[in-house]
Amino acid sequence: MNSYVTGTTIKQLREKQNMTQEVLGEKLGISSKTVSKWETGKGLPDISLLQPLAQALGISVIELMNGEHIINKNISANMLRSKFYVCPICGNAIHALGNALVSCCGITLPALEAEEAEDGHAITVEPVEDEHFITIHHPMTKTHFISFVAFVTDQRIQLVKLYPEGEAQTRLQLRGRGYLYYFCNQHGLFRKKV
Ligand SMILES: [Fe+2]
Repeated sequence: MNSYVTGTTIKQLREKQNMTQEVLGEKLGISSKTVSKWETGKGLPDISLLQPLAQALGISVIELMNGEHIINKNISANMLRSKFYVCPICGNAIHALGNALVSCCGITLPALEAEEAEDGHAITVEPVEDEHFITIHHPMTKTHFISFVAFVTDQRIQLVKLYPEGEAQTRLQLRGRGYLYYFCNQHGLFRKKV
């Protein structure tokens, strides 16, 4: 976690709940003056107040500490809204069905935005027997490589880990319509509609 809690976050969330500093203070058994101090950066809530504060503001403690409120509506309805998170330090790759607060190696990871396949990160898909042969036209060196390929449909995900000492290719069963995602450690996430 790289932040505790900021006054701006408390203020914004309190106002969103149409609560005065007095009302929030009452809920927590403290004075409105104390709330005002937090909001203007002149004090921080005691750790023992974090849980009741988050509850009063209608969010989780993690969200309060990150200053971010995540609302995932009907996630299960469409897996095509999947998000990928990759840690730039250790290379860990995380898949989520919707937005999430993900942290790895002590840093909060942003959800990656995929770019459409382009020159330099082109991909070809050829049918082979009952599968598809996927080739990404990209170098595979220790410092610049494709670290995974994933096929996401509205129902399932297949993810294949690639290694710099291997080739930028794999075989996948592409059943149904979906997106092929692939991640370059230097240039980020790409995708191609299949
Ligand atoms: Fe690249």
